[in-house]
This record gives sequence, structure tokens and C-alpha cells, in this order.
Amino acid sequence: MRPARALIDLQALRHNYRQARTLGGGKALAVVKADAYGHGAVRCAQALQDEADGFAVACIEEALELREAGIRAPILLLEGFFEADELALIEEHGFWCVIHAQWQVEALARATRSRPLKVWLKLDSGMHRVGLSATECEAAWRRLKAMSQVEVQVLMSHFARADELDHSYSTTQAAAFAEMQACLQAETSLSNSPALLGWPQLRSDWVRPGLMLYGANPFGRAHPLADALQPVMTVESKIISVRELPAGEPIGYGGRFITAGVTRVGVVAMGYADGYPQNAPDGTPVAIDGRPGRLIGRVSMDMLTVDLTDHPTAGLGSRVELWGRQVRVGELAARCGGSAYQLLSGLKRTPREYVDA
Ligand SMILES: Cc1ncc(COP(=O)(O)O)c(C=O)c1O
Repeated sequence: MRPARALIDLQALRHNYRQARTLGGGKALAVVKADAYGHGAVRCAQALQDEADGFAVACIEEALELREAGIRAPILLLEGFFEADELALIEEHGFWCVIHAQWQVEALARATRSRPLKVWLKLDSGMHRVGLSATECEAAWRRLKAMSQVEVQVLMSHFARADELDHSYSTTQAAAFAEMQACLQAETSLSNSPALLGWPQLRSDWVRPGLMLYGANPFGRAHPLADALQPVMTVESKIISVRELPAGEPIGYGGRFITAGVTRVGVVAMGYADGYPQNAPDGTPVAIDGRPGRLIGRVSMDMLTVDLTDHPTAGLGSRVELWGRQVRVGELAARCGGSAYQLLSGLKRTPREYVDA
């Protein structure tokens, strides 16, 4: 069997959830959309269900998967419904529903309900992706309030640049949100992971941590709180071939790396088809049998090459960590010009194994 695997540490997940909740100082919805950022939504929700105040997903398909797996906690649909005919299922399963567009308000006005529907109204405070403008938001609030069986539970918004700690845009967004909040009587929900970690002064009743639950640093640089999170996913594989090359030999596609001296090269069963970044440069960190090592040569679809010259005891079958506790995914992403969000949720093909001890 191919030795690549992703170990998922559920204790670390719970630890990070508690950190997020403590930082937020109120209630926290665990964001488990996109299959819990590649970690397995059902297993992650099951691991958190005794303590999480609820879960957040992107769409009804993801919510149904959790309900079918027996998750009884509240589940918020972050993008609400995509078509009005989802409302029957939303009602049946008691999902909470973000309302971010005028057409959704109209659809709610037309629908009949036999059970109360809990709604989170989304203000566009500056992200300009989804959400209602301040004027629309106030009007929608009044209309929804007048509808029977609709409970507008929370006023929410989403940050566009909370990962940029020296940029003032988050405070501008927070000010726009505070203005709306002053007009409406509702609980509030603002912070995602970078806001929780980097903007602790921006408080709301509910926070919505995603990336930080999985122990990844969203900032692309060192950050004491983010770096103290526990990585949940460790992606590892093994050395499947070793060769020694003299100086001046190219390695792999395109001959990007040329050996400077006698070099022991190890081939690892992991490639870009697994979700490892194809553009990882020479020198990208890996851990070989627990010791720091480096990638050399271009990443192939199913294999990549590492330098074993300074790892004399490593050889066939040696364990190589691609990201996890030793090689932090945020650092790897920063090296490759991508994001930890993309790396974690882009993990493909690699089988997951769960550890809960
Ligand atoms: C509306 C909303 N809230 C919360 C989150 C979680 O964000 P993060 O993973 O940065 O914590 C997301 C993720 O994209 C989101 O879209």
C-alpha cells in the first residue's frame, strides 16, 4: 500500500476550539465547511459535539451530512439557501440560515412555515462579497421581524483583511458593523480566525473560527497566539527509493536542482496530486525521521525528492513529514506563495487516520 497518510489529532482540534472560544469570550461556532478544511467534517464535528456551541458549513449538502451522522447541535448555513426550495429541508432539520441577499428575503416572505426559522442577517461591512448594504440590512431586518415564524437571531459580518495586522481595514469594518448594531437589537457575530487571534479588541457574542481550529497560522508570519495552536493534521509518507549522485547531476523534471557535491537523494511517495504544492521551491522544509530536512527538485504528480546527504541513517521506509507538528502548514504555504487554507482543504487522495488519545 502507498505509505502516504494524513493523521488527524482530534485532541488537538478540541484544544484549539477551546482556545478560540476563550479568545472570543462568548459562544463559538466551529466552521467545518469544505469537509472541515480537509480534516473530515463528520469526525471533527463528532469530536467537538460535546463542547461546541454549534457548527457552520457552506451549504445544505454539508449540513445534511452532519445531521445524518447524528450531529444534533445547531448548524448554520453560512451562505443560506441557494434556491428557495431548500427551505423545507432547512425547516425540517432546524438549520440556522444566513440571509445575505435581498432575493433571500423575498423568498422567505413567500414561503410558508410551520416551525420557527432562525436567521443570521449578514451586513456587508466592507468585504463586498455577500451581505446586505447598511440600508438594505435595516430594511431587511424590519421585514424579517414582521414575518411570523422567523427569528432574527444574530447580526453578522465578515472581515476581508483581518490577517493584515498593520492594516486598519478591520477597524473600519468593525465601526460600520457597530453602527448597524446600534440600530438593531440582536446578538452579534464578527470574528473569524485571524480576527480572533490578531484583533482581540473586536468583540461579538458569537465567533466563527475555522482555520485556527485546525491549528494553522493565518498570518503568513510568526505570531505567538497562532503558533501556540496545535496542528491537527500531519501529512506524512515514506522514502520509497534512494540513490547517490555525483556533483553536477540534475534531479527530476526540468532538472531544476543540480547537485553541488555527492548527494544522497530520497524519493518520497507524495506529490501534487495529493495536494502538496507543485511549486514548492528547493529548500522547502520537510522532517525526515523527525529531523529537519529539505526538498530538492521539482515536485512530481505522485513523488517528490528530498536531500538525504545529512541524514545518514535515513533510507528506504524512513518517515517523511510534509506538514504537521514539525513543518507548520502556514510556513509551508508562505514558502510556496499559497495559503494554509488552500493546502489543508486541498488535500486529496491521501487516506486520513484519526487519533484521539
Ligand atoms: C462567513 C465566514 N465565517 C467564518 C469563516 C471562518 O474563517 P477562518 O477559517 O478564517 O476562521 C469563514 C471562512 O471562510 C466564512 O466564510
